[in-house]
Amino acid sequence: MLNLAYSTLLVAAAASCASAQSFVSDPLVDKTIAYTAIPYQADTHTDGRGPQSGYNICNSTTETQASMCQTGFINHLDDFCLFAPPAANTSIGDSEGVEVAWCTKKGHGTRLIPDGALQGVQLVQSPGYVQIAGFIDQTLLNIQDGDYGGELDSGGQDGRGNPIGGLVYTNAFPSNNGDNSTYQQGRHWTFFVGGNTFCAKICDDTQPNAEGLCQHIYDRIGCAFNAPNNAKNGTFEACQGADMTPVGVYVTNGVTTTWTQPAETVSITGVPYTPTPAASSNCVTFTSASLYTDLASIGVSGTVTPAATATSGSGSGKSGASATKTGSGSSATGSSNSAGTAMGISVVSAFAGVFLSALFFA
Ligand SMILES: *[C@@H]1O[C@H](CO)[C@@H](O)[C@H](O)[C@H]1NC(C)=O
Ligand SMILES: *[C@@H]1O[C@H](CO)[C@@H](O)[C@H](O)[C@H]1NC(C)=O
Ligand SMILES: *[C@@H]1O[C@H](CO)[C@@H](O)[C@H](O)[C@H]1NC(C)=O
Ligand SMILES: *[C@@H]1O[C@H](CO)[C@@H](O)[C@H](O)[C@H]1NC(C)=O
Repeated sequence: MLNLAYSTLLVAAAASCASAQSFVSDPLVDKTIAYTAIPYQADTHTDGRGPQSGYNICNSTTETQASMCQTGFINHLDDFCLFAPPAANTSIGDSEGVEVAWCTKKGHGTRLIPDGALQGVQLVQSPGYVQIAGFIDQTLLNIQDGDYGGELDSGGQDGRGNPIGGLVYTNAFPSNNGDNSTYQQGRHWTFFVGGNTFCAKICDDTQPNAEGLCQHIYDRIGCAFNAPNNAKNGTFEACQGADMTPVGVYVTNGVTTTWTQPAETVSITGVPYTPTPAASSNCVTFTSASLYTDLASIGVSGTVTPAATATSGSGSGKSGASATKTGSGSSATGSSNSAGTAMGISVVSAFAGVFLSALFFA
């Protein structure tokens, strides 16, 4: 009886999962959208996970701490955005589909990252991408304290992206020739945020292997593998660099092998290679005060919970409570808090002492 009920539940869960997450015929990663032709919403589906929660046309009227702008930028060390929850004290797993852009600069029609949230940031500009990684106080970005987070990208369990309809642009690809006033879309981008760290990468679709450099199928192994970097807490630096080895690809004794992350239901007992950051050069360090001049005006109390999505209504959390998220096993996003913690524990034992550094930083 118990077994029957259990297997019935499993079947029901599998069925509802399948219908809720069927893959769309017009995946976000295939949508080429010029910066000058951004629609109100890049995603127009209404079934499955529901309609896009925010919008992509962002302007001075949407530039508030309650903005629901879902268009982000990875431009320069002083000019980038992260996707984070719209409402306070939320896990990444619970909000992956509805996250909004938080930026370091005014002018993008988004929320601003509260002053003090960025604690150390490294930008690496390579031929194929712009990568930013760093240390944050994630509670100032509405992310629940203790959440190990997960991946946001232009893939997603249904191809609609996480956040759904999220678009990312840059003015820093080589073809821009330093012209900051024009923006190019990166159809391939990934963000990992959680554990008070983040990494963000936008790949240049005009360069070879944008898909491999911005892979979105390695959502359980964090920044160390997806965006190997030398970010240091307390240091703000911009570097040039070579392209990384595509995520999952490694060379042993001259033999190139691709490791593929196992299915969500299979625990990861180890990854057969240790990623190393690609060579970087010409690193220049800055003070955060000189970089983030727009943020002082926002202050740390800038985390406003919009009425429409208010849950607890309170500010940033420091309680260390763990989330009750059950872990919606999406292929493109990572672990939620409880699932993530459990996953983290298995990874801890597999990776021995290098868990935190392995998960996020090499
Ligand atoms: C500003 O953005 C909002 C939200 O996307 C949109 O409804 C509005 O039309 C935009 N305003 C202008 C002047 O483009
Ligand atoms: C573009 O922006 C970056 C930083 O945001 C700045 O360092 C650079 O000088 C700007 N380029 C031009 C041509 O203004
Ligand atoms: C980064 O440094 C700040 C300030 O010293 C500290 O509070 C924070 O815990 C550090 N973050 C991580 C992830 O170690
Ligand atoms: C955050 O949410 C958790 C559970 O959802 C709760 O236990 C905790 O008290 C909240 N923290 C804050 C600061 O609201």
